[in-house]
Amino acid sequence: MSTVLVLNGPNLGRLGSREPDVYGSADLDELRALLSASAPAGVTVDLRQTDDEAELIHWLYEAVDAGTPVILNPAAFTHYSYALRDAAALVTKAGVPLIEVHLSNPHARETFRHTSVVSAVATGVIAGLGFDSYRLALNYLTSPR
Ligand code: DQA
Repeated sequence: MSTVLVLNGPNLGRLGSREPDVYGSADLDELRALLSASAPAGVTVDLRQTDDEAELIHWLYEAVDAGTPVILNPAAFTHYSYALRDAAALVTKAGVPLIEVHLSNPHARETFRHTSVVSAVATGVIAGLGFDSYRLALNYLTSPR
């Protein structure tokens, strides 16, 4: 494996200034730097963000076609996007691991956040640990098994 895709959904481009009490005050560039520094030698972290559901789905197709492991923070799409869920299922059914991550713990928040339509097709889920949710997912994906 030489690349891990780190895909972020809507409003995560505002990380750093968006509800810092919930999501912290560091932005996506800082997340990219942290993950790149944590990645083992030879592993490239390709971190992207979009507010566009179709773009996110096409990035998952890219992961299927290239066999690239995925760390996915679907953001609000988590809670209602069956289209994104179906695309995530294409990834894992192809035998490519996909870890769903969240900065916050959605289960400790509003009721609508308690449902993830993605979790059932993800390889695993890590939530509530801030940037460590991503770091632990990267560690899992890049550890020998
Ligand atoms: C989030 C949690 C979602 O409920 C929310 O819509 C987000 C971010 C998280 O990382 O904690 O945008 O996925």
